[in-house]
Amino acid sequence: MPPVAQGPYLKKIAAEKGEMFTMKFGSTHWVFLNSRRVVRELLDKRASIYSSRQSFPMASQIMSGGYRTLLMPYGDLWRSERKIMHQILNGTQAKVFEPYQDIESRTLLYEYLTRPQQWSVANGRYANSVIMSVVFGIRTLLDDTSLTELFGVSDEFVKYLAPGSSIVDTLPFLGRIPFLKALQPWRWVGDDLYRRYVKIYEKQFAKLHQRRKQGTQKPCFMTEFLDQEKDKDFNTEQIYFIAGTLIEAGSDTTRISIAEVVAGAALYPDWVQRARKELDDVCGSDAQRLPTFADMSRLPIIKGAVKESLRWKPSIAETGIPHALIQDDVFEGYRLPAGTVVTYNHWSISEDPKEYDQPERFWPERFVDEHIDDPVKGHVAFGAGRRVCVGNRVAFNNMSISIARLVYCFDFVEDPSHPIDVSKPFLANAKTPSFAVKIKVRSPAHEELILRECKAAATAQD
Ligand code: HEM
Repeated sequence: MPPVAQGPYLKKIAAEKGEMFTMKFGSTHWVFLNSRRVVRELLDKRASIYSSRQSFPMASQIMSGGYRTLLMPYGDLWRSERKIMHQILNGTQAKVFEPYQDIESRTLLYEYLTRPQQWSVANGRYANSVIMSVVFGIRTLLDDTSLTELFGVSDEFVKYLAPGSSIVDTLPFLGRIPFLKALQPWRWVGDDLYRRYVKIYEKQFAKLHQRRKQGTQKPCFMTEFLDQEKDKDFNTEQIYFIAGTLIEAGSDTTRISIAEVVAGAALYPDWVQRARKELDDVCGSDAQRLPTFADMSRLPIIKGAVKESLRWKPSIAETGIPHALIQDDVFEGYRLPAGTVVTYNHWSISEDPKEYDQPERFWPERFVDEHIDDPVKGHVAFGAGRRVCVGNRVAFNNMSISIARLVYCFDFVEDPSHPIDVSKPFLANAKTPSFAVKIKVRSPAHEELILRECKAAATAQD
């Protein structure tokens, strides 16, 4: 398995093998699902046995102490954490977060206007600030060092989710041999990452308790969690990882998805014209006002663009987030033993012309159908079955309001001296933009609108 661009590599194999194929990493069999049909049949319809996670000694134990919800095996601890997350992030609740998404997307526009060369960092700040508001009730500023620290740790961790990325995940028995730590090089990296992670959240919780004492804390996931005394059911580090999982799962994913829209707009401006027509009809062709959540029912192309950003050139989990099977199973004549790792071959499915007409094209209208308002329908970017992204509604709203406003106010043009490479996933690094692009405000009237309606949000401290 190549260390990078695994999605395009597995797509080639899928083209030869068909809807499923198997690979072996160490002693573990991995089954790759290459069509939405088999994803539905196995991960959705048989979710009660396909919703666990394999043991990743490096990613889930050493780096996470067994506390990262995303990587937890199917069981009581996962179930109780998932339930709390669902209660606070579900579709009805998601409205509570709209004021945060509103203020942060105004800030995003102001940053694109005043520091266009920092568009990628601005996307990261936006994504992080919404999720920090949702989880801790605080904002993140563009030059915030804790943001760099947090993204740095996440970037390093995410690499270990790819198949074959650590020898101890490929050969788990190595982790059980009582070597001295000095002889376990994977531990040097993993232990260090774990310590840095705990430290980041120790600081955040200290500040949260301080604000609660001072009476300055805003309503958020954690205040609800503490007020309802849900903390009694978990130890301190588990609580850090509940918050951390949400922040991690909600930051990078949103940041990268906005970058996908920027690339899609630069390479396929035809849809931008159609989306603008929609936006102009609602908000005025002379920048009369910004689009809001109340307008979304009249902006189907924008909602389609959100889904398309998740499907097109998937750069998050390009080979899927693997599920593990907990019981022997038989599917269409194939025997899958308990312990098999089963993943949706994300890049391959998304790029398959049998799944999507003209898959190379960024084309939001492919999603404009009766399922447009269901964030998880029509693609596999939020995963599947009982592990499907628990923040999918918050994510959909994060994306739709920011995309509506960006597309309404800015032009995105490819830089001919730096063509955008779409042959592989975009670089997921937080510090460097994934590609070069020229960003310009659409007109003096749009500039005036941003200055009038967004400056205050951008300069407010909390
Ligand atoms: C564009 C944005 C996002 C994308 C593409 C995304 C994608 C995913 C994927 C692929 C999974 C794993 C699904 C599986 O195993 O089948 C996942 C899990 C998860 N996501 Fe998201 N996510 C996004 C935003 C968010 C947000 C905003 C939050 C929190 C508010 C969030 C919280 C979580 C959590 C907690 C899990 C773990 C669920 C579990 O293991 O049971 N995600 N997400």
